[in-house]
Order: sequence, then structure tokens, then C-alpha cells
Amino acid sequence: MTQVYEKLMRCYECVRNRTDFVPKVAIVLGSGLGDFAERIQVEYELPYSDIGTFPVSTVPGHAGKFIFGNIDGIPVVCMKGRVHYYEGYSISDVVLPIRLMKLLGAEILFLTNAAGGVNSSFHAGDLMMLRDHISVFAPNPLIGPNVEELGTRFPDMSNVYDEELQNIILQAAKEHHIYLQQGVYAQLTGPSFESPAEIRMLRTLGCDAVGMSTVVEAIAANHMGMKICGISCICNLAAGMTARPLSHEEVQQAADMAAPNFKKLVTEVVKKIGK
Ligand code: HPA
Repeated sequence: MTQVYEKLMRCYECVRNRTDFVPKVAIVLGSGLGDFAERIQVEYELPYSDIGTFPVSTVPGHAGKFIFGNIDGIPVVCMKGRVHYYEGYSISDVVLPIRLMKLLGAEILFLTNAAGGVNSSFHAGDLMMLRDHISVFAPNPLIGPNVEELGTRFPDMSNVYDEELQNIILQAAKEHHIYLQQGVYAQLTGPSFESPAEIRMLRTLGCDAVGMSTVVEAIAANHMGMKICGISCICNLAAGMTARPLSHEEVQQAADMAAPNFKKLVTEVVKKIGK
């Protein structure tokens, strides 16, 4: 058994000693979506710090816990706060919570994040559905001995973001008159924001949005055969696209402003995909 799997199983047993809740949908809440939890009929909350050697986020605004509960009768587990590679965790620790949620029963993974807009037709406050991603600027979470219990050595990445889930998101956005962009998200490690030259490079490569999370989570979830979808909240136009310098506070404020639509869309999509 690999060390990665052993650690995962220890965390799994720790959670199972506390709750036997079986989620159908796993949701990762990005910056600004934290109070999405209001939409959940909460059954059980489990702070990450209560789970043995589980990685605990150090970013302001990312206080971490699992929330188990129901949205419109659909059992969900929500990650309020995620861990990022730039905090200094190993990449296998960064994706451990995703793997854990799959082991707990979640077949569907709904990823959300705050991102910078790279596409020049985007505006701060837009929401963007992920159609694909670029992972080459972040370490691959599957590097190391393959964890055979979780998935295959060389997973196919042709359809990471599930076509059917994408259609559900598009339909929910249309029904609720929520303007939705679509595009390719690139993960860089951070924690520094990108330089204007890096943003020009990303645009040339076909990126529409950039952030510091999500892609490694999608790779780990895809390895385990989860159905994945994702939505970015475009909190700012990326470096060099406006005259203003970027700050975490600005990102947080923009995420808070976009939060009502973001929460509405995520709730409506979960209701549809859980059916
Ligand atoms: N770059 C990277 N990550 C981000 C940004 C950005 O401009 N905005 C929010 N998260």
C-alpha cells in the first residue's frame, strides 16, 4: 500500500468514526462562496483540524471544514475552504480532500473558484463555466507511485469536465437569467499573481481564466472516475489588463459582490444534477 493511500485511509476512518453520511455530490467552495453553506440543510459539520493529519488551510477567508447535508433532498458534502499548493503542502495532500469525498460516496464533483480573467471580453463579476483546463504550470498530483486502489497510471483527460453536467449548467444559467461565460482555466502555483507577460502568454495559449487551484483537484478526481464540473468567478481582469495593481482584498471583494448569482447558479445546478 502506498503512503498516500495509507494516509487517505486513516483520514477516511477518522471521518467514518464521526459520521456515516453518504454524499452524492461533492462541492468545493472557492473564495466568496463560503456562505453558500446557508443553502444546505446541515446534518453534520466536521472541521478539518479534527481529522488526524488532514491538511488545514492557512489562507484568510478559507477556514476549513466539511459540511454534510442536503440541498433539496440531495445529499452533498461541501468543502468550506480548500488547501492550496502555495501554502507549502505536498501536491498529494492538496488533493487528499477530493479523494476522501469520493471514498465517502460522492460520484460528482462541483469545483468552484475565484479566478482572474485572461480573455479580454470578460469583466470582473462574470461567471465562467470550465470547458477544459491547462495543467502544465502546476505539479501533477498523480506523480509518484500510482495508487492502484484509486485509478489507472495513465488516465485519459479528453473529457474531464462532463458534457452532460456542462449542459445542465448552461440550462440552469439560462433559466435563471445568469450571464455565463465559458472557457479554459489555467492553474499556476501562485501565491504571487501573474506578471503581464505571463498573462499575454496564457492568452496566446488559449486560456480564458487563471487561478491557483482546481486543476489539480480535477486531475485527482478524474483519476478516480468522478464526474466533474466547474465554475469560476472572474474576480478581476488579470495583470496588465487594467491600470490597477492586484490585491487579495480586491479579489475577495469582487467575489463577495458576485456571490448572490454564484450561489444561485450552484444551488440550481446541484438540484438538477442530483435528480
Ligand atoms: N490570478 C490568479 N489567481 C487569481 C486571480 C488572478 O488574477 N484572481 C483571483 N484568483
